[in-house]
Amino acid sequence: MRKALFLMLATLLVFACKKSINPVDENFEPIPATIDYPSWVSVYLSEMPQNISNPLTKEGIALGSLLFYETQLSKNNTQSCASCHQQANGFSDTSRFSSGIDGSKGDRNAMAIVNLAWSKSFFWDGRRTTLESQAYDPVTNPIEMNNDWATVVDRLSKNSKYPELFYRAFKTRKIDSNLVAKAIAQFERSLVSFNSRFDKYYFEGDTTILNEQEKNGLSIFFNKGDCNHCHSDVLLSDDAFRNNGLDKQFTDKGRGLVTKDATDDGKFKVVSLRNIEVTAPYMHDGRFKTLEEAVSHYNEGIHKDSPNMDDNMQKIISGIQLSNQEKLDLVAFLKTFTDQQFLTNKAHSNPH
Ligand code: HEC
Ligand code: HEC
Repeated sequence: MRKALFLMLATLLVFACKKSINPVDENFEPIPATIDYPSWVSVYLSEMPQNISNPLTKEGIALGSLLFYETQLSKNNTQSCASCHQQANGFSDTSRFSSGIDGSKGDRNAMAIVNLAWSKSFFWDGRRTTLESQAYDPVTNPIEMNNDWATVVDRLSKNSKYPELFYRAFKTRKIDSNLVAKAIAQFERSLVSFNSRFDKYYFEGDTTILNEQEKNGLSIFFNKGDCNHCHSDVLLSDDAFRNNGLDKQFTDKGRGLVTKDATDDGKFKVVSLRNIEVTAPYMHDGRFKTLEEAVSHYNEGIHKDSPNMDDNMQKIISGIQLSNQEKLDLVAFLKTFTDQQFLTNKAHSNPH
């Protein structure tokens, strides 16, 4: 009996996968979508910024999620965005340098994708200013998906589902790179994380949810450690480019590569610390394997003589001088930024 049921389900599944989707009629309009997040967020942040040329819709986000997990975007059909941006790791990669489809590696660590709707520049050096323009790059990047857009568009156009799904999202069955990027950007805007234990304690007033050690860590984060000077407010990032004193000499000039201004050399995007527990390794080049190592940098590893050191480093430039216990407390606190619901939310998972 169970076997029969299983067979029936399996047949149904195969059938469902093969089946193309019924076309909707001419009058079909995509349904405008708003992303849910706690109301207190609006006290600290603007309403989620929208791209007026790419308003969020239910169908747009759903299509974007399929494309984010679509291996056909890569030349040899092996890699999707999610290969380097894994949900369980806060949409980042556990490898120091992610491997592209040919096994070639870059020299930067894949970044976490979280609350980016509020961000104004993308990549460690901020060379892109919209999520739409960012999404173009990995597809053709030789050390990532190493494909060309004509091939991607051709593959998606011949697919039994995609033309109809593009129609539902954008009212056209003529697929192009712009629309692919738009859909992916919509999906990325839906990736909001404000449901950590830190949020419950700090913004929602649940005073019992953190233990004493975590509360000590919180106090270090906001006072002695001065971390919130840059990893500030609800986003735990001020979205600026700053040098946090990692190096005396720069092998990667970061922001300076984009502005060609030597005073920007060594500056990198202040990334959010949300879900930092699961986004190791750390920093633009993934040089630190653990949070303990990252904390040690601020505690005793800062290169005081690093050119273009950020003014916000003033208070901690000589190291924070934490005791071993205080370091552990700070690390314990950083782990309260983990948002389990975000990391396991089915709406963000592979829909294929
Ligand atoms: C081979 C691994 C790899 C693949 C595949 C990949 N990425 Fe990335 N991603 C990276 C790396 C590495 C960075 C940082 C690169 C840099 O700063 O130069 C990055 C950065 C980003 C950022 C910037 C985040 C921020 O805070 O500024 C976004 C957004 C992003 N990727 C989205 C995508 C999307 C969408 C796709 C699929 C179209 C994709 N990535 C495919 C490795 C990858
Ligand atoms: C002057 C601003 C500034 C201050 C102050 C600061 N940070 Fe950072 N932080 C940054 C920047 C910029 C980066 C990215 C640097 C890079 O990769 O080159 C970063 C990266 C990190 C990362 C790695 C993030 C990732 O995803 O790879 C951690 C962890 C971190 N900081 C924790 C802290 C802690 C803990 C404190 C307080 C002790 C602190 N930061 C203080 C600017 C700052």
